[in-house]
Amino acid sequence: MDDLLRRTIGEAVEIETVIAGGLWNTLVDPTNLENAVLNLAINARDAMDARGHLTIEAGNAFLDDSYADLHAEVVAGQYVQVSVTDTGTGMTPEVMAQAFEPFFSTKPQGKGTGLGLSMVFGFVKQSGGHVKVYSEPGQGTTIKLYLPRSMQAEDAPAEIDAGPIVGGNETILVVEDDEAVRETVVAVLDELGYRVLKAPDAQSALVVIESGVAVDLLFTDVVMPGPLKSTELVRKTKERIPQLSVLFTSGYTENSIVHGGRLDEGVNLLSKPYSRDALARKIRQVFTRDGKIPRLEMPSVEPEKAPRDALVVLICEDDAIIRMDTADMVQELGHTVIEAETGLKALQIASTREIDVLLTDVGLPDISGGELARKVRAQRPEVAIVFATGHDTVAGIDEVPGASVLRKPYQFAQIQKVLADV
Ligand SMILES: Nc1ncnc2c1ncn2[C@@H]1O[C@H](COP(=O)(O)OP(=O)(O)OP(=O)(O)O)[C@@H](O)[C@H]1O
Ligand SMILES: [Mg+2]
Repeated sequence: MDDLLRRTIGEAVEIETVIAGGLWNTLVDPTNLENAVLNLAINARDAMDARGHLTIEAGNAFLDDSYADLHAEVVAGQYVQVSVTDTGTGMTPEVMAQAFEPFFSTKPQGKGTGLGLSMVFGFVKQSGGHVKVYSEPGQGTTIKLYLPRSMQAEDAPAEIDAGPIVGGNETILVVEDDEAVRETVVAVLDELGYRVLKAPDAQSALVVIESGVAVDLLFTDVVMPGPLKSTELVRKTKERIPQLSVLFTSGYTENSIVHGGRLDEGVNLLSKPYSRDALARKIRQVFTRDGKIPRLEMPSVEPEKAPRDALVVLICEDDAIIRMDTADMVQELGHTVIEAETGLKALQIASTREIDVLLTDVGLPDISGGELARKVRAQRPEVAIVFATGHDTVAGIDEVPGASVLRKPYQFAQIQKVLADV
């Protein structure tokens, strides 16, 4: 948040951050936490009349029984503490008593809504935490947020580049009602070396389970037609196979397994649409979390016998199915694939990584494939451009010298030819 804070707080306030070593984890919504810190920092700025010293600290804290006795709503225990301290005017006891009330503000009309602190309070309460204020007129203010410690491992942000893709030879049951998605997933998992079973709904999946096959992981859509819910399926399957690993997938952010914007403890979710790489990584991650180490003879899908003329191909396509299909085919040809689902993401990748070929859809949700190609070329004139399109021509293709056209729908042979040509 460095940049954002600097710009918001202004040059005349010194900002210091003190982060304790061995910091514990907490499970909260990152955006809400950022908003809370930002709100506290803005209040601090206003209280200092834009000059002074702002300190943001993070550390581990233990709220003991005697503290809990004094604060009715506090549960004694371990917390991660985030505090914001300023050298501003401070608050009188009267102001402090009302500061967290919605719409309470001492700021001039039109300057403050009085909602800042009440939002901070709401977020902390919702996260099972506690807020404490220390303030005296003329002495500045410290606001401490206590967020409950979580024993879960840190959730690594999904990165495009998170290490090699590995498969395994466990058995995975794929439950998905959309046939196209199901077949693609089955093909991807199969190629990764897994034994794959499939079912179009929860009821049929249960039949597979009840036949007695040893399933290691259930990969199921959250929302499916039919009388049996996916969560019911999981419960019934776990009765038969207690060590079962489960990965849900869903296109909905709000659904039966997500409560208040966060997942129930121990629930794994892969949001749709997902890339082939994301699927492969997530599956391995779930196995690892469940303490299942990949078996030795596990195949690696890194192209070991990569031909000498292997290319790095950036595939930009917003349709997840087409993208995964294309990625598979390009990989099969021994090339390295990087996937992007929007033009801007592709542009960002192209500006940070060496690529040989940009294979892009023309109609993208943000910038057009043509614009993307021109921007990539401006940075890297040597990159070969391939437009994938359902039309005969691409508007503005003249501005991208040497660009090729891959006519949709395309198959292995067409991709092979166009990549051989470039
Ligand atoms: N760091 C601080 N130092 C002194 N007074 C503060 C501080 N933080 C909050 N206050 C007091 O608490 C009041 C309520 O704060 P709150 O953030 O809820 O609303 P606001 O800052 O007035 O408006 P908004 O945040 O919606 O712009 C403030 O108007 C101010 O009087
Ligand atoms: Mg405020």
